[in-house]
Amino acid sequence: MARATKRTRASSSARTPKTKRARSNGLARAGRRVSSAKLANTSARRLRVLVTAGPTREHVDPVRYLTNESSGKMGFAIAEAAARAGHEVTLIAGPVSLPTPRGVTRIDIVSARELLEACRRDFRRCDALVMAAAVADWRPAKKLAAKWRAKDSGAERTTLELARNPDVLASLTGGRRVPGKTVIAFALETGSGVARARRKLAKKGADWIVLNGPASLGGERTSVLLLGADGEHVGLRDRSKAHVAQALIERLKPACAGMGAIARARRLGPFPKAAHPSAHSTRIGVTPSVRPRLNRL
Ligand code: CTP
Repeated sequence: MARATKRTRASSSARTPKTKRARSNGLARAGRRVSSAKLANTSARRLRVLVTAGPTREHVDPVRYLTNESSGKMGFAIAEAAARAGHEVTLIAGPVSLPTPRGVTRIDIVSARELLEACRRDFRRCDALVMAAAVADWRPAKKLAAKWRAKDSGAERTTLELARNPDVLASLTGGRRVPGKTVIAFALETGSGVARARRKLAKKGADWIVLNGPASLGGERTSVLLLGADGEHVGLRDRSKAHVAQALIERLKPACAGMGAIARARRLGPFPKAAHPSAHSTRIGVTPSVRPRLNRL
């Protein structure tokens, strides 16, 4: 304890002459401005990004379930791109066998209801949500404790009663755009799907929706149309998922570049625990690179 006190005193007294010199020639104020600007810059770029990825599984019994073809590759690529860009990333993943990208915090879930619970814990604090998970809309009305013995009845047909799963994204946003957060949804459509994707964009309160087709499932490459809530659209044809991920992460940047982020950084430093950063940040805008460029899917 005595040693620690001594070290602190020693280091502060070591700085005193410099500080005095700086003050005397008027550099101290300039120095403060420079360090605030650096802090603001760091804080403005580093966002809390929540990404969901992969399918959900809805169990019929302990060994059978309903699911879909999602591989999780797109969501994992987004988490990786966000971490590389220096953001603080939480990845909520359905059952997939992909390695966790470096620097990413991963939470594994199985069902849509588990996904909702996990998202609820992090959504309030995040600056951006990228909802790449392929969520099952239905689950068996009952999960049996033991194997389903449907054959035992001797019947040639049987039915499985399904119950509606919550819409995770709409539950989080309340179906409205959330001030200060960037929300990106996905829409997998089997037809051209633009009108349908736009309806989903509005209904789920997202800022962007990534329209893609079944050909994207499981592969390393994809063709997508990014549709913005303010009417923007950008086509990316036959690109690697890493490339598309990077394009999405770039759309998060303007969300925190406002004066609010700078004021926050000056007042509280990066990622204050007591105040939500998004309360001060501005919404995503249309950057020159986002000017309408429409390639057909
Ligand atoms: N989504 C969700 N909760 C659900 C279903 C979907 O949060 N129960 C999210 C997906 O993660 C995606 C977006 O909503 O970001 C659109 O998902 P999609 O499956 O394309 O659309 P649905 O809303 O399920 O509608 P439909 O199945 O009729 O196409």
